Amino acid sequence: MLASGGLRRHRSDMTQTYRPRRSVLYVPASNDKALAKLPSLACDAVIIDLEDAVAPADKIAAREKLAGIFANRPGRCEMIVRINALSSEWGADDLLAVAKCEPDGILLPKVDKPRDILEAGDVLDDNFAPDEVKLWAMIETPKALLNIGAIAELGRDPASRLACFVAGTNDLVKDTGVLATPDRRYLVPWLMQMVLAARAGGLDMLDGVSNDFRDLDAFARECAEAAAMGFDGKSLIHPAQIEAANRAFAPSAEEVAEARAVKDAFGLAENAGKGVIALNGKMVERLHLAQAEKLLAKAAAIGA
Ligand code: COA
Ligand code: MG
Repeated sequence: MLASGGLRRHRSDMTQTYRPRRSVLYVPASNDKALAKLPSLACDAVIIDLEDAVAPADKIAAREKLAGIFANRPGRCEMIVRINALSSEWGADDLLAVAKCEPDGILLPKVDKPRDILEAGDVLDDNFAPDEVKLWAMIETPKALLNIGAIAELGRDPASRLACFVAGTNDLVKDTGVLATPDRRYLVPWLMQMVLAARAGGLDMLDGVSNDFRDLDAFARECAEAAAMGFDGKSLIHPAQIEAANRAFAPSAEEVAEARAVKDAFGLAENAGKGVIALNGKMVERLHLAQAEKLLAKAAAIGA
């Protein structure tokens, strides 16, 4: 058993810059054809998968491909690797191999409790992985949902490296027995719980995958709903899903115009010392200014 988290030396001051994570595409590490496509894709991030998308017989060969994948990494998007669970026969060796590649993040599956994150972080520290290598966590087990507040709290400690939650809806359906319906009615309460916890911990929160990759209308609806629920982006399984996700999780032209109007209004000399003003018949407070500035920064980062 590894030592628990505790105090560690970290040089990062955690200066927050917005990184779009609207479209985060899983690519099985064992699928050369899919890997070859990456430089041409417009997703914000890629998750190279060693876990569920790779058959047991291919696990070791897939892990051995990582160095080559990272030697030719497309510069534009974030590169994450999902390892096998640390409790599985592959997880510990996966983690060591991935740490050497210095990805932007390592996605841990089947996280149940804070200690699962702390133990992975200890391995990264012990192997001198740079602070820039973050940990992402799948939220896909009933235990993770019961412990989600404590797991998310680690996001407030830069030494934990925790940066992002990814909803694992297929595993949640499997482990709980809820019916997967097109409107996701039985999953929505848990998804909202994840969003809430992620915000409490200052983490990004990505929605789960949509298995029906041929029905792009249904997919666009699911993305719009996820954006309304507060998700930062969606995990994807197929390149055809990238465009809809990029659109749904970017501020719309109307939202940008509204944010500019709020910013301009507070910029007027007559409103300089005011905490609250009226704009187009609506009350606008300085908290709305902060919200508007955040949205404008996001739009600028995306180029929307
Ligand atoms: N990433 C990059 N490229 C992908 C891709 C992905 N996730 N999924 C498909 N492609 C590529 C295919 O290789 C194919 O390339 P080509 O134009 O050079 O022939 C093209 O996109 C069209 O693929 P298509 O024929 O429509 O799909 P498929 O039948 O080959 O694959 C899946 C369907 C679902 C098996 C495949 O999309 C996949 O493996 N997705 C990821 C699954 C995964 O990682 N799951 C774990 C997390 S839930
Ligand atoms: Mg899973």
